[in-house]
Amino acid sequence: MKKFAERKVLVTGAGRGFGRALALAFAREGADVVVHYNSSAAGAEEVAGEVRALGQKAAIVRGDISSHADVLHITKTSFEALGGLDILVNNVGDMALDQVSWRQFDEKVIDHTLAVDIKGTMFMIHEVGSRMLDGAGGVIVNIGSQVVIAGSPRAPQYAAAKYGVIGLTKSYARALAPKVRVNTLGAAFMETEALKNRHDWKNGRRDEILKQTPLGRIATPEDMVGPTLFLAGDDSRHMTGQFLLCNGGLAMVGA
Ligand SMILES: NC(=O)c1ccc[n+]([C@@H]2O[C@H](COP(=O)([O-])OP(=O)(O)OC[C@H]3O[C@@H](n4cnc5c(N)ncnc54)[C@H](OP(=O)(O)O)[C@@H]3O)[C@@H](O)[C@H]2O)c1
Repeated sequence: MKKFAERKVLVTGAGRGFGRALALAFAREGADVVVHYNSSAAGAEEVAGEVRALGQKAAIVRGDISSHADVLHITKTSFEALGGLDILVNNVGDMALDQVSWRQFDEKVIDHTLAVDIKGTMFMIHEVGSRMLDGAGGVIVNIGSQVVIAGSPRAPQYAAAKYGVIGLTKSYARALAPKVRVNTLGAAFMETEALKNRHDWKNGRRDEILKQTPLGRIATPEDMVGPTLFLAGDDSRHMTGQFLLCNGGLAMVGA
């Protein structure tokens, strides 16, 4: 029996990057999947096609998660499309990738990161979590970051936002217990297209991170799939409100 057979999953930001890898991994494990996207329409169509080719149901929904009205639409459409939801993965994140230094101080960029990463995650947990609580229950996994271990001198608002996600995780884990579990994955630097294309990544940052990683490699999105599915599945049934760090040991070097 596949691990996620008969489960219904909404993966946000699944038109590309890590969200795409997650949507396909859930489908391989027998789940039906709602593929959410904001601007990657073609990517979302492709992912939904691959989910169907794996023999699972797929639905597509668009929306900007920093808008509460859009989140209401995403939630309603997702529940209706699959006849309920068992799992939500809040994968959407704005890493402020165009910002190369903390000195590049731009209020609009700061507001945007906080609106997507904190407000958007909160809207998603609030709306989907409320429906899960009123129904059969469910599981919510937020995709956080190892950035909370040592901060980000490049984009401090990104680190603050991911710390904020931990606050949301603990708060909603208590508010929605015992029917809904909420946990966060502390993801490593993983080479999605977004990271690979970043200017500083191509110019030394990758080598620096590699040197500081005891496991001696840079993660791929696939490396983060197992820990995410663990948090989404029954193997983590006695975990809620937790932060699971999965970063190849980065930040232990020199400790
Ligand atoms: N890559 C890394 O090194 C790394 C490390 C640690 C943690 N993470 C976290 O892992 C998650 C995925 O990272 P990634 O590398 O796959 O990122 P990515 O390639 O930059 O993708 C970002 C995703 O978020 C969606 N998105 C952005 N703003 C949105 C908005 N306002 N409303 C709805 N969707 C929005 C995008 O959708 P569209 O393309 O459809 O617009 C896209 O699917 C993020 O939460 C990130 O913070 C990544």
